[in-house]
Amino acid sequence: MSDAAPAYAGPDRILSGMQPTGGLHLGNYLGALKGWVELQNSGSECFYCVVDMHALTVAHDPSLLPGRVRAAAAAYMAAGVDPDRSAVFAQSAVPAHAELAWIFQCTARLGWLERMTQFKDKAGKDAERASVGLFTYPVLQAADILVYKATHVPVGEDQKQHLELSRDIAARFNRDFCGGEMKFPLPEPVIQTSGARIMSLKDGTAKMSKSDPSDNSRINLDDDADTIARKIKKAKTDPEPLPSELAGLNDRPEAKNLVGIYAALTNATAEQVLAEYGGQGFGAFKPRLAEAAVEFIAPISEEYARLVADPAEIDRKLAKGAERAAEVAAPVIAEARDLVGYWKPGA
Ligand code: AMP
Ligand code: TRP
Repeated sequence: MSDAAPAYAGPDRILSGMQPTGGLHLGNYLGALKGWVELQNSGSECFYCVVDMHALTVAHDPSLLPGRVRAAAAAYMAAGVDPDRSAVFAQSAVPAHAELAWIFQCTARLGWLERMTQFKDKAGKDAERASVGLFTYPVLQAADILVYKATHVPVGEDQKQHLELSRDIAARFNRDFCGGEMKFPLPEPVIQTSGARIMSLKDGTAKMSKSDPSDNSRINLDDDADTIARKIKKAKTDPEPLPSELAGLNDRPEAKNLVGIYAALTNATAEQVLAEYGGQGFGAFKPRLAEAAVEFIAPISEEYARLVADPAEIDRKLAKGAERAAEVAAPVIAEARDLVGYWKPGA
């Protein structure tokens, strides 16, 4: 007998989610959604939720939230998530997430959460005024994943630390309540190699983000062709022509970002892009980039517009997704309840 850690015996399952905080952008697509669709198409069982419970951790307008959940779900589907194959649902529609989150709050240690950089970034200087939910946000994220015993989580690079925390929680729960048996898998992030980090069009050192006040900093998945072309034309660059070698992009964050975006959009490597455009200026490169972006986004934004025009149909899909998700979560939450010793008749 080897004394290596026991392996997890369950099937591969995929879970991911995004917050319903306004429209999605190219960074969300290239960093996350693209991977969601690839995993779905490889035949894995997938759960893609809109994390509306996480949206409560910061100030929000309740009257806008349901519409934003529908919009996020429509964006998932427009990007290629097929609700007949993957469960697409609102996190709050499956109460097992909240139930497991409480159990995991008693598993996670304060010191683990204090290390989370996303909390520090979002809470800013006045952390005392942040909601407790913002602090325990990554525990709910661990529950989102583990309530389906998901083994793989396609996300952007910025979520790596939260995934480490999910693994720590799973391992600690397995140790404390399962005698070391791998009841919960240790979920792994699946990070896209190209597009892991798409940067702002206005600042190559800042992430492309929906919270950036300048809409020109990002390409939204529902931007029309003229808007995309205009944003790329205005994107910050430097006066030098593109280099022929990758090393020539060091210390040129804006150039590096645009080359990276073009590579991800055309399924090429950055080396291949530089082999083609090395020596040319941005005056020549930007129109090609704009064409690639328009060609890529047009079908997504058309499908998005078609889907959001029928909210009742989105609701039907979300309800069906929630039903399916709840079915898979039910035995997991029942097992967790027994393991921590909750009362039940005859227990
Ligand atoms: P957020 O927009 O922060 O709610 O993130 C939703 C998902 O998109 C997460 O998996 C992020 O890691 C991913 N993501 C967000 N912004 C970017 C970006 N600029 N580049 C790559 N991935 C991103
Ligand atoms: N924290 C993630 C983000 O900011 C969103 C999220 C919530 C998530 N629960 C999740 C991502 C579970 C993956 C798996 O993008």
